[in-house]
Amino acid sequence: DGEVYKYYADGEWKTSSSGKSVSIINPATRKPQYKVQACTQEEVNAVMELAKSAQKSWAKTPLWKRAELLHKAAAILKDNKAPMAESLVKEIAKPAKDSVTEVVRSGDLISYCAEEGVRILGEGKFLLSDSFPGNDRTKYCLTSKIPLGVVLAIPPFNYPVNLAVSKIAPALIAGNSLVLKPPTQGAVSCLHMVHCFHLAGFPKGLISCITGKGSEIGDFLTMHPAVNCISFTGGDTGISISKKAGMIPLQMELGGKDACIVLDDADLDLVASNIIKGGFSYSGQRCTAVKVVLVMESVADELVEKVKAKVAKLTVGPPEDNSDITAVVSESSANFIEGLVMDAKEKGATFCQEYKREGNLIWPLLLDNVRPDMRIAWEEPFGPVVPVLRISSVEEGINHCNASNFGLQGCVFTKDINKAILISDAMETGTVQINSAPARGPDHFPFQGLKDSGIGSQGVTNSINLMTKVKTTVINLP
Ligand code: G3P
Repeated sequence: DGEVYKYYADGEWKTSSSGKSVSIINPATRKPQYKVQACTQEEVNAVMELAKSAQKSWAKTPLWKRAELLHKAAAILKDNKAPMAESLVKEIAKPAKDSVTEVVRSGDLISYCAEEGVRILGEGKFLLSDSFPGNDRTKYCLTSKIPLGVVLAIPPFNYPVNLAVSKIAPALIAGNSLVLKPPTQGAVSCLHMVHCFHLAGFPKGLISCITGKGSEIGDFLTMHPAVNCISFTGGDTGISISKKAGMIPLQMELGGKDACIVLDDADLDLVASNIIKGGFSYSGQRCTAVKVVLVMESVADELVEKVKAKVAKLTVGPPEDNSDITAVVSESSANFIEGLVMDAKEKGATFCQEYKREGNLIWPLLLDNVRPDMRIAWEEPFGPVVPVLRISSVEEGINHCNASNFGLQGCVFTKDINKAILISDAMETGTVQINSAPARGPDHFPFQGLKDSGIGSQGVTNSINLMTKVKTTVINLP
């Protein structure tokens, strides 16, 4: 009971000298579930020193050997799904089946990354000087990709394992060392995941996992002079990190207000099932969740009826039972969602279901006739609440989408592919899905947000490239 999970540094599991711990509240029971070490700034310094020196020899380790170790870690991770899946259920209330899927997807991501790494890092460029005016053929330029150094990875609570490995694997294959700061909700899942890398036999100090309070070590980590790259997924914190970080590459995926634009010729059954999947899976706690439906007035009644019928079938309850809708991550999150719902109520939205909440558990809710003066038209609930705005033209939908300060993904439903492409071009988002709900995967696809939704592009290939720098050597002939 009183056990505090250790943090990982120098290839060992350690107890913090702070003597303090951070407790992780189970979102469903609202009772303390686990405890992790509250690491100190001195411990961060020690980890950074180790990461710097381990990286030097790791960068000289042959690429195929780095890949081999990653494949090993992927296999160990998949063989040890159970403890990670169990802690995902307990600390972030992710439904049991989805928790297993997250771990398997993570193993696949690591393997894919190892394969992609050996291909793209295994080749360089050769340039000749005489293609540029005024030059003879006397300069041969060789280019290759070199690591950045120490990569700091900060994943969010909603995919603690998957969004950690999506940063760890590209960093390592590219020859970087890695310091992981897990989210508090999700820390234990991350520690189990790190143990798989430990068992795979990576060199000491190359990977570390520091747990603790953001207020004590957050800025200290992100502003640490030893850090050469930050890969962060989460909320507004990312904006403040980007303002404080040094002159280093940043990879950031922040919020989203993904719009679902529905034209009058759309297959409404397909739209309805995608609103359910896109809006309510993991209780809407995904940056890529459908967060506003913009439907043509002419088909709005029919669509709302179809979605309502499907919402009625969603199960609500504990994650252990694979309920579709589970408790949201924290009480403050539930309060925030409730605030958006009450604002919509006061301003006259149509409630397709009765609003119901018990603790952190919020029943799925579809809000019709939402107007632009309601907060829910613009803010992301990160909960099982989907607003529907009725539009009288496609332009109105595009304008609403583009007026958002977010620009992660969006989707458009129509049978007319030409219209779909034109709408996709007009939507100011990193990705537009045609006839499907937004989603990050498959994990080798580029994934990026415009505006406040992020910096840089993710997906396996882009992450590897972002965590490297181009190095050139020029041979000068007489
Ligand atoms: O919220 C995190 C974001 O990366 C979503 O991923 O796989 O649910 O689309 P996914």
